[in-house]
Amino acid sequence: MVVSSTLLIVSGPASPVLARRVADATKSSVMQLEHKVFPDGETYIRFPSSVAGEQVAVIQSCYPPQNKNLIDLLFILDAAREMEAREVAAIVPYFAYARQDDAYRTGEAISARTCARLIEAAGASHFLTVDVPSNKALRFFRIHSDNLTCMNLIGEYLEARALEKPYVLAPDDGAMLLAQTVSTALKSEYAWFEKTRDKVTGTISTSGKDVNLKGRDAVIVDDVISTGKTIANAAQIAKKQGAKRVIAACAHLLLTGDAEQTLKAAGIDETIGTDSIEARPQRVSIAPVLAEALRRIW
Ligand code: R5P
Repeated sequence: MVVSSTLLIVSGPASPVLARRVADATKSSVMQLEHKVFPDGETYIRFPSSVAGEQVAVIQSCYPPQNKNLIDLLFILDAAREMEAREVAAIVPYFAYARQDDAYRTGEAISARTCARLIEAAGASHFLTVDVPSNKALRFFRIHSDNLTCMNLIGEYLEARALEKPYVLAPDDGAMLLAQTVSTALKSEYAWFEKTRDKVTGTISTSGKDVNLKGRDAVIVDDVISTGKTIANAAQIAKKQGAKRVIAACAHLLLTGDAEQTLKAAGIDETIGTDSIEARPQRVSIAPVLAEALRRIW
């Protein structure tokens, strides 16, 4: 797919592998930046050559350490604009802070709004993200923004695995559309569970639907797996309902703290992530989705 002769993929420090894959998919050049961290923790970014007049796509997923990855993104956007890039797209597969998309208790900082304002002020003309935990987070952008999904790619990957009578589950109603997309690729049924979260403690509880999973492979899909508790709750219900195997799949496999043990203890047989989070095991590349989105905007 040829997007544009002037498209330049700029690899943020958090996403070098993904940037190379997007460059390959769009038949574009990729620029590696000079990047270092000073002894006090501050970071340094330098473009090795000019991007004046170019359509620049900066690829930088803002997974943990999200504060560092976010500030690096802002430095890159600002430098590209100052060098008079024609347009600058911020491609942020994992949009940190998107979950706090409103003030649910009086006085709360709406972190998604602050991040959107910073990205825009730094010089982005477009903002692309993937399976954002809350679509509401995008309402704070005045520039063009889009929430892409990689669930069709996850569905295709699973489809090639010849699963045993697969049944797709969403661990909460927020993931219902993701489950529906994966189930379409798998030509399977899907359902979603109900999850409630205590606004103060963050403790979650999940209640299942009456689904007969006896002898079947259950696929639980979500946007993010962080502590793993959301998926673990759903997996325990699926196991009780007779699932033979439980596979967890997500766009952003953060695996925070002891998440891996949490998933294992819940009986999850396999966990599937993408190259949104390069430090974690990846089975699916989101590069085709990003390449297609770039083709649409430029
Ligand atoms: C929010 O509800 C999201 O869609 C995810 O379900 C959530 O962020 C997963 O977090 P954890 O793995 O910590 O339960």
